[in-house]
Amino acid sequence: MSTDLDFTITEKEGLYKAVFSRRDIRSHFIGKKIPDNVLVKILNAAHHAPSVGFSQPWDFILIKKKDTKIKVKNSFIDERERSISLLDNDLDRQDKYTKLKLEGILESDINICVTYNPERFGPFILGRTSIPETGEYSVCCAIQNLWLAARAEGIGVGWVSILSIEDLRKILGIPNHVKPIAYLCLGYVNKFEDRPDLERVGWLRRTILSKVIHSEDWNNTKLNNWNDTNKIIKDLDYRSNG
Ligand SMILES: Cc1cc2nc3c(=O)[nH]c(=O)nc-3n(C[C@H](O)[C@H](O)[C@H](O)COP(=O)(O)O)c2cc1C
Repeated sequence: MSTDLDFTITEKEGLYKAVFSRRDIRSHFIGKKIPDNVLVKILNAAHHAPSVGFSQPWDFILIKKKDTKIKVKNSFIDERERSISLLDNDLDRQDKYTKLKLEGILESDINICVTYNPERFGPFILGRTSIPETGEYSVCCAIQNLWLAARAEGIGVGWVSILSIEDLRKILGIPNHVKPIAYLCLGYVNKFEDRPDLERVGWLRRTILSKVIHSEDWNNTKLNNWNDTNKIIKDLDYRSNG
């Protein structure tokens, strides 16, 4: 790998390819084992994420045993029921939700619970004194690194958040001061879809980039060269607008 200031064209393309072709995966797992050396590479990418005050507040619990996965899946089933009942007033969405596949806990090769430990190197963490949530944001940075590195290795990742934190604590023996942030399902897949599943089934669409950009202050959303920007996006090699 080049350590020069600039990325080569190929290096840039690789990075953008990972960004735009990464998907949240719940199906398409093929059951092939992830070798330890590949898993360690992905975890090492996660471990090189930015973190507030360099606190590195993450831990990764690797879960391969079927018994443990079944316990987590049961938590998912309970929480899914609860969340479906929240849509009692919107039967159309409730019906759509019910048909969605929202996890691949048992089908994926390895599950990883990523946790946040606020006590690591603490209590004083440089940069975390005003916004305590920066600790959890750091863990999310690690998760994104993991997700992109996995994509580069041809491994799909699905984030399951329809779970009870308390169930996860009990099932995985996580101490009270440590907070589960993500439950991830990893495995080789036979396909990465072009667009998010939730977009493909008509749940939501990707917002147009111009709608989320503000110029100088919140109330100014008019972008000067927006037509140019739109053209740049259209000209991109990868499906960045899909
Ligand atoms: C914090 C977080 C929690 C998520 N929880 C779930 C989940 O419980 N089940 C699920 O199917 N997808 C979950 N997702 C995946 C999102 O639905 C997905 O990222 C989004 O629809 C965009 O699709 P893409 O990741 O394929 O681009 C989660 C994503 C994030 C970032």
